[in-house]
Amino acid sequence: MFFQKHKRKSKDLKQIDPDIFYWIQQERKRQKEGLELIASENYASPAVCRVQGSLLTNKYAEGYPGKRYYGGCKYVDECEILAIERLKQLFQVNHANVQAHSGSQANMAVFLSELKPGDKIMGLDLFHGGHLTHGSPVNFSGLLFQSVFYTLNLETELLDFNQIEDQVKKERPKLMIAGYSAYPRIIDFKAFRQIADRYNCLLLVDMAHIAGLVAGGVHPSPVPYADYVTSTTHKTLRGPRGGFILCQDSLKEKKIKSKIFPGIQGGPLQHVIAAKAVAFKEALDPSFKIYAQQIIKNTKVLEKVFQKQGIKMRTGGSDNHLLLLDFSQLGVTGKQIEESLEKAGITVNKNTVPGEKRSPFVTSGIRIGTAALTTRGMKETEMEQIGLWISKVIYNPSNEEILSKTHQEVKELCQGFPLPTDDL
Ligand SMILES: Cc1ncc(COP(=O)(O)O)c(C=O)c1O
Repeated sequence: MFFQKHKRKSKDLKQIDPDIFYWIQQERKRQKEGLELIASENYASPAVCRVQGSLLTNKYAEGYPGKRYYGGCKYVDECEILAIERLKQLFQVNHANVQAHSGSQANMAVFLSELKPGDKIMGLDLFHGGHLTHGSPVNFSGLLFQSVFYTLNLETELLDFNQIEDQVKKERPKLMIAGYSAYPRIIDFKAFRQIADRYNCLLLVDMAHIAGLVAGGVHPSPVPYADYVTSTTHKTLRGPRGGFILCQDSLKEKKIKSKIFPGIQGGPLQHVIAAKAVAFKEALDPSFKIYAQQIIKNTKVLEKVFQKQGIKMRTGGSDNHLLLLDFSQLGVTGKQIEESLEKAGITVNKNTVPGEKRSPFVTSGIRIGTAALTTRGMKETEMEQIGLWISKVIYNPSNEEILSKTHQEVKELCQGFPLPTDDL
């Protein structure tokens, strides 16, 4: 035979790299035995994980479907077209770009499409629930652009459109950003549009946190109001780690395309783009609406428990997937509670609260989200129990006996709810 047949025996990861194998096993155990309440996390489905770990990672495909700088792209083209078409259908939008490696890159592409360095942008103050990429001085958005901020109304703790309008009138930003990392209420996108129109300002909605709620019909869509919509794919939307950009106007779409590539990225992650396509298909299934509705029901149960237990929640509760607990009157910090909850097998993140007096490394609050546990199949009964455990830890953060007993009970509950990715 002219060519010798190469038969490669595939070894398993345990033999190839026992160290990484070991750490994945440890992480698997952590995910299995603990309660995940970080508001930006979720469990991607086995299909999403499988595609993200597929041989599509081998392919270089700079450019866009039908117009690539590399040969051999016909199959990844089909995957990318599917991702785009499904995403357009999911959010009822004219144009979609699925190449952004992350939510931050999606925002960067929008800024570079419309702004020159030094132009003014306006987002919600980071301490009030905004995101780093909305103008923070330590992020590219604040380093490249002149950033100004609006805040929440400190009395109502809500977005205050009179205040926002006053700030836009005073600062005259070229682009305004709505969409947040820690805001527990419905966002009135129409009110933002009206202000943007009055002051000739572009409106970017970053729906990273609520994309799954919008897709599931339990939060209004920003698509009819925003010039651009950006998002991550891995939070409530439950896809692989990544980003995307939507717009209605073909000129804007053209600008985004060239800013993503060659503007800020090289080869697209075709394995992730195909996994996005799978996630969008899952989100188009009627069962996704039930999941989104259950997220809200689960949050409402936690809200009720915390109300009963006398634990302060910013804005008094939540309309979405997250709650912002405030300990500034309890004499404990967000950092302390995050650490104590971790000892009890419950993962959350410390978070600043509006009007924060402490550093972001310490904080006066924690943020809690229900999307991951909803994916895991937990409903009202489990959420009530989890709310009681969290409350107990908040009132007894240094009581090792309570933390250890709670950890045991958490493990027992988790045994009844296998992870979707248990077999991977
Ligand atoms: C509102 C918002 N936008 C953007 C991002 C950034 O996403 P990524 O971590 O994918 O860059 C986040 C992430 O937490 C976010 O909350």
